[in-house]
Amino acid sequence: MSALSEAYAHGRPSAIADPTSHAAYLAVRMPATYAAVLAVLAQVSADVLDGVRSLLDLGAGPGTATWAALAACPSLVAAAQVDRSRALLDVGARLGAALLQDRRVDFTQRVADVASVRAWPAADLVLSAYALSELPIGVRASLVSAAWRATSHALVLVEPGTPAGFQHILDARTALAAEGARFIAPCPHEGPCPMRTGARTDDWCHFSVRVPRTRRHRQLKGGSLGYEDEKFAYVVATRLPAPGVRPARVLRHPRVEKGRIQLVLCTPDGAERIVVTRKDAAWPAARKSSWGDTWRTAPGEDPP
Ligand SMILES: C[S@@+](CC[C@H](N)C(=O)[O-])C[C@H]1O[C@@H](n2cnc3c(N)ncnc32)[C@H](O)[C@@H]1O
Repeated sequence: MSALSEAYAHGRPSAIADPTSHAAYLAVRMPATYAAVLAVLAQVSADVLDGVRSLLDLGAGPGTATWAALAACPSLVAAAQVDRSRALLDVGARLGAALLQDRRVDFTQRVADVASVRAWPAADLVLSAYALSELPIGVRASLVSAAWRATSHALVLVEPGTPAGFQHILDARTALAAEGARFIAPCPHEGPCPMRTGARTDDWCHFSVRVPRTRRHRQLKGGSLGYEDEKFAYVVATRLPAPGVRPARVLRHPRVEKGRIQLVLCTPDGAERIVVTRKDAAWPAARKSSWGDTWRTAPGEDPP
């Protein structure tokens, strides 16, 4: 268990190679990666997700991202999972049978090296969660470009919320922008990432989701808290036209002080720090805002 958590924390490949490590992955990491993918999909508007019928999950492992996508997209009727590990795909098949019950989804699984396949069958939604970090340097770009070529609607990449995980997302974002992708989330623009321009070069864009821990989960992880906070970095790219005005993104926990709230935002014009005071029309929106949310109002404007 601790080897898996350590590998994740230090950005090393997780080496989930035998039945014990499969079980450990399901117990230690899968609840968190599921929650992270679900949190990412919650940032994708219903008009993009509603049209999604087919899914391709690259580096699917036990199908974590597939199960999250099926929960977020009721319109999905076909899901293809790819992983180099037959054993993990088998675990996924067993989970799928238990999770899906009466839902009719056409499943396919394929054992393959996601870095060496150049052409995947097209899918409306292509997902890769916590897999880029597992690949050797130099082949990550092949996964991203092949995944993008296969994408009809949206490509979702999720990685650990560490500086290394963010760097993988940033490299993918740069490659995707060069291919003409538009970003649905978290970025409100296709320009240079403000985390890598100006004064913010040692910062990294990441978000957090709170994952409840069951008693068993606490015992296995040797923790006493009833939750854990999973940090993740992500990007969602689309071929669909981007909406005219994109909301800014709250990049940090809002700083609440007496009578004022400070928000760090990623905006179409770059990173910005704004202060909303009790007198501003945006005050109620600022009070409700959280790290990772979209932000649509300027301090003096009326909230939507
Ligand atoms: C950390 S797990 C993530 C699994 C799942 N996506 C999730 O979010 O829980 C990484 C997965 O990538 C797979 N993987 C690593 N390198 C791969 C490669 N070159 N080709 C295919 N799968 C690979 C591993 O077998 C493992 O299932």
